[in-house]
Amino acid sequence: MSVTVAKYSRVARILHWSMGVLIIANLAGGLLHDLNADLIMPLHKATGVLLLALAVLRILWRMVKPAPAFPAAMSLGERGVASFTHAILYAFMVLIPLSGWIMVSAFPRPLPFYGLFELPKFNIVKDSALWGVAAEGHELMAFALIALLLLHIAAALRHHFVLKDGILARMWG
Ligand code: HEM
Ligand code: HEM
Repeated sequence: MSVTVAKYSRVARILHWSMGVLIIANLAGGLLHDLNADLIMPLHKATGVLLLALAVLRILWRMVKPAPAFPAAMSLGERGVASFTHAILYAFMVLIPLSGWIMVSAFPRPLPFYGLFELPKFNIVKDSALWGVAAEGHELMAFALIALLLLHIAAALRHHFVLKDGILARMWG
């Protein structure tokens, strides 16, 4: 049985899927950068900064247009896990690119935005406490994001194929 449910707004859906593709590409680029760092890293950094801007827009939009209510059949526990996971995903969408930006600010290399213009840098010294937290944190949070995304995707598939409660349709189309 399929159920009709309220949808996310069109803006939220476009942001979710376009950012989803770019985030997965950036995770892959970060992990595989040794293949061709000169090609991959400038794209990784520019796309990361673009994602940071999109994340800020998305969070502001989320405040203007809140998510549709959970389906009535979802238990309090399931709602709690979903809300908690989404909150951490939002936090990572900001903190991962921000930590990367802080990390590379200490390097002499310029920070071009797809060859269009140069991005500014934070005033940060390599090996300072904040730099260390950003450099360590970037990698740790990226790995934690991969684990959370696997959970997130598994939950979406469970809702679609097992519970059939229309959750995927709220974010699709
Ligand atoms: C193939 C990959 C993905 C699938 C199948 C998927 C699926 C979904 C679905 C079905 C929802 C709606 C949940 C609901 O109605 O409550 C959702 C929400 C959400 N997704 Fe994804 N997603 C994917 C990738 C991502 C990625 C890469 C991110 C970001 C790191 C992400 C972050 C979120 C967040 C934060 C929400 C909550 C939206 C809100 O309530 O404000 N998703 N996702
Ligand atoms: C959502 C955005 C981003 C994601 C998901 C992401 C993900 C990753 C991942 C998975 C790695 C590999 C970690 C490792 O194995 O050591 C990495 C490395 C790195 N990232 Fe990002 N990143 C993002 C944004 C950024 C931004 C905005 C910058 C800089 C402006 C940046 C700069 C770097 C640097 C310098 C490395 C280290 C490469 C090396 O080990 O030499 N990242 N990133």
